Amino acid sequence: MIIEELRIINFRNYENTHLNFHPKLNIFVGDNAQGKTNLIEAMYLCAAGKSFRTSRNREMINVEKQQAYVQVKLKKKYSDVNIEIGLGINNKDVKVNKICLTKIGELFGNLNIVLFSPEDLKLVKGGPGERRRFMDREISQIFAKYYYILGQYNKILQHRNRLLKDNKKRILDLEVWNEQLAVAGAWIIFYRRNFIKKINLLAKLMHRRITGSTETLEIIYDSDVKIEKDDGVNRIKENILKKLENSINIDKKRGLTTTGPHRDDIILMIDEFDVRNYGSQGQQRTAVLSLKLAEIELIKGEVGEYPVLLLDDVMSELDLKRQKYLINNLKNVQTFITTTMISHVKGTDPKDRMVFNISKRQADNIK
Ligand SMILES: Nc1ncnc2c1ncn2[C@@H]1O[C@H](COP(=O)(O)OP(=O)(O)OP(=O)(O)O)[C@@H](O)[C@H]1O
Ligand SMILES: [Mg+2]
Repeated sequence: MIIEELRIINFRNYENTHLNFHPKLNIFVGDNAQGKTNLIEAMYLCAAGKSFRTSRNREMINVEKQQAYVQVKLKKKYSDVNIEIGLGINNKDVKVNKICLTKIGELFGNLNIVLFSPEDLKLVKGGPGERRRFMDREISQIFAKYYYILGQYNKILQHRNRLLKDNKKRILDLEVWNEQLAVAGAWIIFYRRNFIKKINLLAKLMHRRITGSTETLEIIYDSDVKIEKDDGVNRIKENILKKLENSINIDKKRGLTTTGPHRDDIILMIDEFDVRNYGSQGQQRTAVLSLKLAEIELIKGEVGEYPVLLLDDVMSELDLKRQKYLINNLKNVQTFITTTMISHVKGTDPKDRMVFNISKRQADNIK
């Protein structure tokens, strides 16, 4: 899929800007604090319905204004899609092809995006919550059902935790909540296991290519609930139920649910060492790069067309070999790159790209 146009009004430091993009490579060049990431954020907003930098609309709306508007026009294999997002201080209106959406989940799948920013290193270095968010975000954009089930699971979990905190009251109700939690939890684990299985194969391949076969990357799903590789949803549900029943005393004591997919994690290994504890900075970055390239292929496989790739500030963090590898492997993927120096994007054919010079308040297309 290709983002053909972006229009933003009163979004961050932009007043009213309309850009037409190249189907292959688009480069936003400019000094720090000029508005390059703001453009990436606007496009991401149209894919995910929220920003990757903030959960507050106020921050995205220009400081002098009360409302903002973002529009992208997409060219897809079989259709054209027009996504519009209106931001108020406390509200968000989302339209796809002029039709208002009632739930944000309905937006997913219209624009598939893979974002790679320096923040993604958190995937390796951060806590398990970062890695769960990664799985949730990526699976949701492919399978809307997953997003729905995840919402259900979190609601049930909250109810159950409330009961546990207040443990004199209606403790018998726990059994009902256990059952519901186990059903939703089983689907989450089922989807996550399949996702990791696929992304592992692809990331392994990417990593081999990038490192010239000197390293092997392995991504392992470390579920809180023991599962075998062929377990169906029912079997997983039974296992969750068993764990919930076994941990009831500790749950009551602590006033929260200590087991379930909200405790899941992913382990990234290079040559049988955990990258988190033993990997060099370069290995950690390369592992994340392999993962991102794998995501692109995974989306292509599931959705039938390539997603749009947003690379925010990552070129300067990669060595020359990896920069070249990245650029040369993105021929079929529309890509947006932000950089402070155009020299970081060497080696691309000028006819395959468009360069945008970004300076405060105005994004000028200088080609
Ligand atoms: N709500 C807002 N209203 C007005 N201006 C804003 C708002 N939010 C951010 N800005 C301005 O946007 C600029 C930052 O934009 P952005 O993060 O896109 O910079 P950048 O070009 O990506 O810089 P860097 O190279 O440092 O990453 C800052 O100057 C900031 O003052
Ligand atoms: Mg930036």
